[in-house]
Amino acid sequence: MSFTVAIDGPAAAGKGTISKGVAAHFGFAHLDTGLLYRAVGWRTLNGEDPLEAARALVPDDLERGDLRTAEVAQAASRVAVNSDVRSALVTFQREFSRRPGGAVLDGRDIGTVICPSAEVKLYVTASAEIRAERRYLELSAKGSDITREQVLADVRERDTRDADRSTAPMKPAADAVLLDTSDMSVAEALKAALAIVDRALGAVA
Ligand code: DC
Repeated sequence: MSFTVAIDGPAAAGKGTISKGVAAHFGFAHLDTGLLYRAVGWRTLNGEDPLEAARALVPDDLERGDLRTAEVAQAASRVAVNSDVRSALVTFQREFSRRPGGAVLDGRDIGTVICPSAEVKLYVTASAEIRAERRYLELSAKGSDITREQVLADVRERDTRDADRSTAPMKPAADAVLLDTSDMSVAEALKAALAIVDRALGAVA
């Protein structure tokens, strides 16, 4: 049986934590689709053409340790505007979503474009200031010397680029459940997501 959970939303809203938690709780496979764009962005920072990089992507590219930097995030957001790059990554994501046993995919266009028939669609969001603070703490814990102001500017710039692009812009699907995590702890946000998935699983059982 395939069962797809699509989790979309802006950077640092809590998608990653929620997706991992949902996957672990229900035994589903998890794909962080941002990593695909980060891996392509990383390759472009090393001089490759974005489309060639997307076509040549192999699973090992997602394992690289330096994909989580602010520089790679910006490069990812830039290559993600290119509709040919996006098309080159569709088949991999759709095949992943139909894995027997269930799959969680998180990104920007999963509920709208990649998996429009997903059994569960969540759109996880939070204010830009709160998201920037979370990302700042994450990056500085890893030794980055980026400032709070830079992180907030980066988050805003990516939000605008991701939401304003013409192909597969970041937006909630019409039938997505909105989850604003601004005033929620990680445990509360995960609990809310688990309850939504649990209800949907009950409906298909
Ligand atoms: O989720 P993330 O911050 O790792 O994503 C990095 C960038 O990749 C993001 O700014 C936009 C792009 N992206 C996208 O366009 N579509 C997705 N499904 C996932 C990420």
